[in-house]
Amino acid sequence: MKKTIIKGTGRALAPRLVTNEDLAKIMDTTDEWIQQRTGIQQRYWVPEEGQMGASDLGLTASHKALEKAGWQPEEIDFIIFATLSPDIFFPGSGCLLAEKLGLTSTPALDIRQQCTGFLYGLATADSYIKSGLANKILVVGGEVHSSGLDKTTRGRDVAVLFGDGAAAVCVEGVKTDENIGVLASCLHADGRGADNLMTELPASRLPDRHPQGLPIDSERFFPSMNGPAVFKTAVRKLPQVTRETLEKAGVSLDDIDMVFPHQANLRINQAFAQFMKIDEARMFNNIQKYGNTTAASIPLALDEALEQGVVGKPGDTILFVGFGAGLTWGGVAYRF
Ligand code: COA
Repeated sequence: MKKTIIKGTGRALAPRLVTNEDLAKIMDTTDEWIQQRTGIQQRYWVPEEGQMGASDLGLTASHKALEKAGWQPEEIDFIIFATLSPDIFFPGSGCLLAEKLGLTSTPALDIRQQCTGFLYGLATADSYIKSGLANKILVVGGEVHSSGLDKTTRGRDVAVLFGDGAAAVCVEGVKTDENIGVLASCLHADGRGADNLMTELPASRLPDRHPQGLPIDSERFFPSMNGPAVFKTAVRKLPQVTRETLEKAGVSLDDIDMVFPHQANLRINQAFAQFMKIDEARMFNNIQKYGNTTAASIPLALDEALEQGVVGKPGDTILFVGFGAGLTWGGVAYRF
């Protein structure tokens, strides 16, 4: 039976380092408030001039992942691009990335599942591989949030949280009897909570996507969030989906060498770890440096962990868990 194996990973951060102190110069916030509530110290944003989209960051990350996998772009037989901030309204960033990789007929699929996007992407790749539809798949999570944030005091509750970045993972179907690769995935969505975290405009459901007379700096064009509601749902759903994924994979929490939670808020991850009794050494967090990079956050953490050598030995078993807008949540268990 074929197993879905990670062959290479890569990451790309936007070039502009923005510290909490930098934000305090443009809105009413403090380094202390941001660190205390979220753990974030800094993030990277795209330059204020010129063009840099999710697919551009995705391209850099993809080149690194392809190099580690030893693949040429032509070998990719499917591209999955997870993003909530596509370069343009349509077509999707997967098509744009394919073009940048020099590919002219490789299928490309965009996934719009926000912070759970990479998990949806990895689960989809696993299904494509196991069903024989594709064998070498490039899964990318990439976001450019900064061009769409309200960087005034009005938008401070959201603006301080997000960073721009991308990460890519090459996965391949390999025939083996060993219990390795993607062991199980569990995905969920509950649209009843959509209003808790969303960007409403431009909205195709309206007769006029840009309602006439509405100023371009209306808050309806920026992400809005019910922070406490998102926080509470996250700390409830993450343990649930962890148990569900572990059970499906046939492993226990003690078997997990490292947990890679989505990086939305260090406090959410600490509450989750405390509730599940996961010691700090088995939780991989890097939100302090990057902020919430949404679909990129889990593969970005994986790439960093592999580089540091904290995971990746044969037999190492890891768990990805995430939660985000939609509302969506999910988990994937993986063994090297
Ligand atoms: N700097 C300073 N003060 C800020 C601020 C900022 N960046 N953002 C909000 N505040 C203020 C609020 O205006 C409020 O002031 P008030 O009491 O005078 O009305 C106060 O801080 C507390 O706001 P509150 O929203 O209750 O704070 P909180 O402790 O819930 O923390 C979040 C806010 C956003 C950090 C927290 O709710 C959170 O992390 N939620 C989950 C977010 C998330 O994970 N989103 C992505 C999901 S994938």
